[in-house]
Amino acid sequence: MKRLLAAILMVGLMSAHAHAATVLVTGSNRGIGLEFARQYAAAGWTVIATTRNPAEAKDLNALAAKNKSVTVEKLDLLDLPGIKALAAKYKGKPIDLLINNAGLLGDAPGQTLGTFDRKSFDAVFGTNVFGTLSVTEAFKDNVVASQQKKIVSLTSIAGSVTVAGAAKNNPYWYRASKAAMHMGMRAVAADLKDKGVIVGIIGPGSVDTEMYAQYGTDYGYKDPGVMIPAQSVEKIIKIIETLDQTSNNKLINSDGKTYPF
Ligand SMILES: NC(=O)c1ccc[n+]([C@@H]2O[C@H](COP(=O)([O-])OP(=O)(O)OC[C@H]3O[C@@H](n4cnc5c(N)ncnc54)[C@H](OP(=O)(O)O)[C@@H]3O)[C@@H](O)[C@H]2O)c1
Repeated sequence: MKRLLAAILMVGLMSAHAHAATVLVTGSNRGIGLEFARQYAAAGWTVIATTRNPAEAKDLNALAAKNKSVTVEKLDLLDLPGIKALAAKYKGKPIDLLINNAGLLGDAPGQTLGTFDRKSFDAVFGTNVFGTLSVTEAFKDNVVASQQKKIVSLTSIAGSVTVAGAAKNNPYWYRASKAAMHMGMRAVAADLKDKGVIVGIIGPGSVDTEMYAQYGTDYGYKDPGVMIPAQSVEKIIKIIETLDQTSNNKLINSDGKTYPF
């Protein structure tokens, strides 16, 4: 009897100390980011779900209302003081997985050949390169302090210099920004390797979101194999589970294939 009581006490103490893993997702109000928030919440993770406009994040707020483990926070990738302020709020809190999901495709006039415009360049590079790397910089200590120590950035095979191929009506800033982001994340992987950090650069495939719809209308892109966000995110989460430091210099697609940078 005494042994049984001791075992029950031990299990109780262990569960009191067991922490759910924590994920921070950028751009989680819609599309792929919202689906990450949904699936990690359903899997029992603590989710810091960020969006640049919490007041208008109807679906995300509904998820948070149903699920105590989801906290909605304001985070705009173009607002460095705001990024630093959120990181200060979470100082000392371990974040097992940082998902740099937010991204900007940008409109066609402004970044197709013959229409180049600086404002469009600044918005796309500001979001996809500066924003992604600044969020990574701001939350790196939270990741280092965690158990899983993973940073994952969402990319596109359209950002592979090697695979660039024969596409027409290219979104130049978008493609170049993802290629630049790859370099930034590889540098992050090198800088944080000794601290045990694992970096994933993962393409979701073609996913039916507002960005995919705009890729169609503005750039004429269509993929018969387009997935709904739930399908793509399910695959990505499985890949994230397998990541280790040997993945640091790989560009992995949601189909599990590795592509050259
Ligand atoms: N869908 C695809 O087929 C596909 C293919 C390859 C790669 N990807 C990549 O996958 C990621 C998610 O794409 P998606 O299809 O879900 O795109 P999406 O539907 O357009 O959603 C983009 C998300 O990023 C957020 N965002 C944009 N600029 C931001 C900023 N300055 N600060 C904070 N958040 C910002 C948006 O917030 P707002 O609602 O406030 O604008 C939104 O939450 C992106 O990195 C994208 O490049 C997507």
